[in-house]
Amino acid sequence: MKTIDYTKHALLQTKITLLRDKKTPYTLFARTMNEISTIMCALISAELAVQKTTVLTPLMKAAGTKLKRPIVLVPILRAGLGLLEGFRQLIPEASVGHVGVERDHVSLRPRFYYYKTPALKDAEVWVLDPMLATGGSLDFTLGKLKEHKPAMIRAISVLAAPEGLRHVEKAHSDVQIYAAAIDNKLNNKGYILPGLGDAGDRYFNS
Ligand code: URA
Repeated sequence: MKTIDYTKHALLQTKITLLRDKKTPYTLFARTMNEISTIMCALISAELAVQKTTVLTPLMKAAGTKLKRPIVLVPILRAGLGLLEGFRQLIPEASVGHVGVERDHVSLRPRFYYYKTPALKDAEVWVLDPMLATGGSLDFTLGKLKEHKPAMIRAISVLAAPEGLRHVEKAHSDVQIYAAAIDNKLNNKGYILPGLGDAGDRYFNS
């Protein structure tokens, strides 16, 4: 599936500019990341499958709508936690799983250290990974999640590098990827350029 990007979304782009600025203090960085995740959740959730239901108003029975499938949010630790708040704010009924993958700074290959999710069979799984850099961690996580037969997987990033996008689009053509901005390239340490630095460090001030 072709990546859906929000590179023309005015408000998202102004907020991403704030994230990029190295002078943006930690509290503003975290708040802005939360706002971006809320906006992205509102945009992406417009695509969710729904089914009809009925509801009793104080006056009469009325037609209503409910989501067709349960939603499971899966942040990739640690930076993925930065997207969780905004998504949970709009979809509080979503369950949350966690996947821990860290990058070996020498080989740049993913190292898997934690996996715990609720049942995924027939669920909509939304993987949260704000920085889609080499795509190694995301590729690895998607492979693991697919073993549990979810109905659909969406992968949600804020900044994506073209190299990482190509990698994941090729390896997982059945996964819908979203990116709020697509940057130029990776440097030799696997950082996105121009990027915003280390998203986890900046979100958690650590
Ligand atoms: N992870 C980050 O936090 N930043 C990058 O630029 C790449 C991966």
